[in-house]
Amino acid sequence: MNDNTSNSKAEKNMNINTDTKNNIQNELNAAKDLKQLEQVRLKFLGKKGTITLLNKEIKNIPTHERKEYGATVNDLRQLFETIYNTKKNNLETEHLQSTLNDSAIDTTLPGATFGMGLGAHHILTKVYYELLDILISMGFAVVDDREVEGAFYNFTALNMDENHPARDEHDTFFFDDNTVLRTHTSSVQIRHMLKNKPPIAIVSSGKVYRSDYDATHTPMFHQVEGLVVDKGTSMAEMKGVLWELISTFFGRKTKLRFRSSYFPFTEPSAEVDMACFSCNGSGCRLCGGSGWIEVLGCGMVDNEVFKHVNYDHTEYSGFAFGMGVERMAMLKYSIDDLRLFYDNNYKFLNQWRG
Ligand code: PHE
Repeated sequence: MNDNTSNSKAEKNMNINTDTKNNIQNELNAAKDLKQLEQVRLKFLGKKGTITLLNKEIKNIPTHERKEYGATVNDLRQLFETIYNTKKNNLETEHLQSTLNDSAIDTTLPGATFGMGLGAHHILTKVYYELLDILISMGFAVVDDREVEGAFYNFTALNMDENHPARDEHDTFFFDDNTVLRTHTSSVQIRHMLKNKPPIAIVSSGKVYRSDYDATHTPMFHQVEGLVVDKGTSMAEMKGVLWELISTFFGRKTKLRFRSSYFPFTEPSAEVDMACFSCNGSGCRLCGGSGWIEVLGCGMVDNEVFKHVNYDHTEYSGFAFGMGVERMAMLKYSIDDLRLFYDNNYKFLNQWRG
């Protein structure tokens, strides 16, 4: 039973008693958390635990001593369980308290906003409204119409018949031969002229679509296009309107030039350039060394367009201009990749939330 054969049975029992009692007390008291406490429990009451083994030993004890031996082991077990239960209760309360402390919620703190704040207009919307506001202040009315457009309104009436090479240049999305996603908002002006007689001063604006994708093109972008038709409308008037528009938008010091160009729907046609804001006209990487940056297209409405909308070109004249909202925003805020507007990078967009 026990290698300590020199001791009397009573002594053996006494030894079990005092040694094990002390051990039980020391080990249970030393347990710092529930995990350690469980280890102590296994050490004494597990399959090979001290008390378990003592209990098993009972079969080797002479019959007349069994009663006393059994009672001793039983006392040990009871001692263990009493201390263990108290300890367990204390540790559980401690654990609960610390969990509660760790996850304490202060309901008086302001809600987490994750830095998002309130919603704000996208920079393109701001630029779009700014351009429209300037034109509205000069007396223009804002019109819009459908985005899925007939080829007649998008091309033919604008002096681009089926074989006109400019149709290709528009990188059109076709539904069929006669139906397209509008490639510019000039189609809206055709619809407006067919329904209204001069004088008119309108801005057509909204989404337009071209199959193109790089740093300065996205398949969808926004245009703001003006049209004035009246008796005696002149190129000088057009220049005045465009000067007012561009210098209000970019600043009064902006230098402009009108450069002769070509559009099927205007004659004469011009492109408006702005002195490069980076080098102020001396030539740099941004303006490709020319000193000038192209801002918009414009011109006097072509007689062919008037014929298509039944306006008498001997009585009326008109001017038109068109610009991309994204391009205007890029120029104003020195952004070199148009796609940034659509990536929805919060840090990028947040620069203009004010
Ligand atoms: N509609 C033209 C375009 O989308 C722009 C433009 C409008 C040019 C009016 C001249 C006059 O390219």
